[in-house]
Amino acid sequence: MAPILIHGAGGHAKVAYTVAIASQREVIGFLDPHSPLQTLFDLPVFKSNPYRSDAENIIAIGNNMIRQQLAEKELNAFATLVHPSAIIAPGVTLGPGTLVCAGAIVEADSTIGAHTIINTGATINHDCTIGNYVHIAPGANLCGGITIHDQALIGAGSTIIPNITVNKESTLAAGATLIEDLPPGETWGGVPARYLG
Ligand SMILES: CC(C)(COP(=O)(O)OP(=O)(O)OC[C@H]1O[C@@H](n2cnc3c(N)ncnc32)[C@H](O)[C@@H]1OP(=O)(O)O)[C@@H](O)C(=O)NCCC(=O)NCCS
Repeated sequence: MAPILIHGAGGHAKVAYTVAIASQREVIGFLDPHSPLQTLFDLPVFKSNPYRSDAENIIAIGNNMIRQQLAEKELNAFATLVHPSAIIAPGVTLGPGTLVCAGAIVEADSTIGAHTIINTGATINHDCTIGNYVHIAPGANLCGGITIHDQALIGAGSTIIPNITVNKESTLAAGATLIEDLPPGETWGGVPARYLG
């Protein structure tokens, strides 16, 4: 299997590293021109891209917009990484650059796009469609038949009832319960979730 170059050297990069080594992947190092670190987990923090043609890349930045910007600049292939403690049911597809963290569950016939994060302990039930550059934060619970469009953030510990649509670039606050569709670009929170901004 190709070795992995992790883009970023912050908190989410540490999580990506954990997923990579747990899935028996060799990690070359971290790429982060802005990091003060020289090493992380005894691996180099590169300030410019080493462009190893044999490597696969993972953009390990939690912010959806920045993750997209960096992914669009990278010329080499992307890895799809799944922690061995995650459960991926039959009929699930995962896009390139997508990271499924420890303890996450993706149930049958769900589709996960590219460069999306299914964070620690999040659950995605059957027949969900999750777009590109989405972040499903730790412990979020999505019931069946939900659609999440590109660049949405589903906050930590939130719940979404079945057959709801979360539109592009919207944010569901941590701990919210969403019971109706979330319009594009808006932030909703609370139980039940209402417009915050
Ligand atoms: C909703 C959220 C995006 C708002 O962040 P923000 O833009 O910095 O907003 P503020 O903290 O200034 O709060 C704005 C208002 O929203 C309210 N609010 C913030 N977070 C809230 C939450 N989780 N639930 C309900 N209301 C919330 C605040 O009380 C405040 O209300 P007020 O205007 O009546 O005082 C943020 O609180 C949040 O929940 N982010 C998700 C974090 C997450 O899960 N990240 C994943 C990391 S792995």
